[in-house]
Amino acid sequence: MTGPRVLIAYATKYGTTKEIAEEIQDVLGEKGIESDLISVLETGRIDAYDAVILGSPVYMGKMLVEAREFCKQYRPYLMDKWLAIFVDGISCCPPGSTDISPLIAAIDEMYEYVRPAMKTGFAGAFSPTDLSEADAQIAGMVRPPVGDFRDHEAIRVWAQEVASAILELNP
Ligand SMILES: Cc1cc2nc3c(=O)[nH]c(=O)nc-3n(C[C@H](O)[C@H](O)[C@H](O)COP(=O)(O)O)c2cc1C
Repeated sequence: MTGPRVLIAYATKYGTTKEIAEEIQDVLGEKGIESDLISVLETGRIDAYDAVILGSPVYMGKMLVEAREFCKQYRPYLMDKWLAIFVDGISCCPPGSTDISPLIAAIDEMYEYVRPAMKTGFAGAFSPTDLSEADAQIAGMVRPPVGDFRDHEAIRVWAQEVASAILELNP
């Protein structure tokens, strides 16, 4: 592979975040940036990458536990290299608030371990079917908005900004 080596590591419970990560990978590809898309549960050594993009959904106000573990495990590397983090959730979806600050707070909570050069929060998707029993119970109490709220244009725009930043790294 020539050019910057980029890892897109994602955590997901129901596939939404993986699909966002795939969209980001597509945009990077359009800009001539090759990347590896790997679940945080399957990442091995990551020191060979020039840049890392980490994606996680937000559950109960936090990034998924395996995404948080990824930040802790790879802290020495991630503190040293170019890093972008995106999260997705439905706290910023209609009919409620469109404020993404609760999503960003889930990233900022990991400040001890990661200092991303870029970070953002996207509207995610929620379907009450096929949930785990525990999630169904919580969803039954919280009654979150149902639907796919992903803004594919917003995802593309952010991915283009990420691509531009990576191309400036000159590894
Ligand atoms: C039990 C449960 C708790 C959730 N908690 C939050 C939350 O605290 N904040 C938020 O923005 N979204 C929350 N969500 C919504 C998910 O983050 C959203 O559906 C996300 O797009 C799912 O991504 P995934 O399919 O990759 O797991 C929750 C969803 C469930 C089912």
